[in-house]
Amino acid sequence: MSTQFGDLADAPASFVIAGARMLDPSDGSDGIRDLVVLDGRIAAGSEVPNGIPRLDGRGLIVAPGLCDLHTHLREPGGEGAETIASGTRAAAHGGFTTVCAMPNTDPPLDEAARVAWVISLGRGASARVRVIAAATRGRAGETLTEVEDLAAAGAVAFSDDGAAIPTARLARTALQGLGPTGLPLIEHAEDPSLAAGTMMRAGPVATRLGLPGWPPSAELVIVQRDLALAEETGGRLHLTHLSTAAALDAVRRAKDRGVRVTCDVTPHHLSMSDAWVAGERRFTWDEPDDMAGALDAETAFDGRCRVNPPLANRDDALALLRGVADGSIDAIATDHAPHPPERTLVEFGEAAPGMIGLETAFSIGLAAVDAGCLTLAALLAALSTRPAALIGEERGLRPGAEADLVVFDPAARWRVERGALVSRSANTPLLGMTLPGVVRLTVAGGRVVFDEGMGLLV
Ligand code: DOR
Repeated sequence: MSTQFGDLADAPASFVIAGARMLDPSDGSDGIRDLVVLDGRIAAGSEVPNGIPRLDGRGLIVAPGLCDLHTHLREPGGEGAETIASGTRAAAHGGFTTVCAMPNTDPPLDEAARVAWVISLGRGASARVRVIAAATRGRAGETLTEVEDLAAAGAVAFSDDGAAIPTARLARTALQGLGPTGLPLIEHAEDPSLAAGTMMRAGPVATRLGLPGWPPSAELVIVQRDLALAEETGGRLHLTHLSTAAALDAVRRAKDRGVRVTCDVTPHHLSMSDAWVAGERRFTWDEPDDMAGALDAETAFDGRCRVNPPLANRDDALALLRGVADGSIDAIATDHAPHPPERTLVEFGEAAPGMIGLETAFSIGLAAVDAGCLTLAALLAALSTRPAALIGEERGLRPGAEADLVVFDPAARWRVERGALVSRSANTPLLGMTLPGVVRLTVAGGRVVFDEGMGLLV
């Protein structure tokens, strides 16, 4: 099968996919239909002119394009690990049509000109690039950035991701200052006074491995602080990569009180537990065997399992999964964090935290669906319509809408290996595992940006 990439500067596409299942969380529709795309827009089935390519959609599912709220594209400064070009190809390969670039680049995205530069590079990329600007200058946690200028340059949110806003006073000022922009503060909830020097989630596995443990309170105290500040100021708060049931409970209660808060969770915090640091390689929804958490000499202490916040324990991971299922978690966001081998294939305590996610997120979600933990509609809502709405993007398969969609084969499986990934980095503990769900076509903004054997890009 030939794999081809296109970009957003290509000509708008025209094609028909016949007999595919169309599932659209924007209106709850789900049924077998023909999808007609004419000049980059979804058209009614009766409007097909002659000469339009007709693709066999039997066995395939069409859904709105996925939207990632948390992507590290590493450009500028980290081009050895990823670039805007390679990261957006990885996105298109994974079914994502939008990625939100995190500002912890070198230099950081804390000035309007830098935000505008990333956006301009994204115009010819394989996925839409939206920019999350730094909340503080230099991400130093001292002075807030010029939020109105950054918003005018196109920023869709503000964050010092990689670190929390260090003081309650600054977080309060940020939430107030963002008011006129209408944009959210995206918080990496981690108290450094509790997290510094830790390597994995605190608990029996960390104790057995002898690694310093990160207590769940490191997340909860910042979540509670920021919820109080959002409630008091009326500011918009988005908590990213939640990893504990306690933090999720606090968010649920705040939502019930009408606080303007939303949150996301990563695919790895749903699917992998702290036992993965000891070498476990089964997903959280699989029944653990008697050896769960026992040391596996082949896979234990893999630096690619080091992530920030650290992989949760199984109970927390399953609680987060229930949060996606019941909608109290707004989105699944990848925290795609590419790092070169010299920063991950090292002693566990030396490894740079983070793993890639754009090309595996959808398949992990589909594995959770296959295991009966999530409905396909809930997964697609968490990956497409709901995150898109948070950054003001529309998604949907209605006639008249711009074609922005993913076509995938839910029954096909693929093996995660270096040669199967288009990201510049391959830092994921999933290497060697077989996952369900193969993306066959991604259409972003009316353009075919990824085609695996459908024959639209040759
Ligand atoms: O694991 C992580 N990696 N968590 C973060 O918050 C930052 C990220 C990165 O930039 O590598």
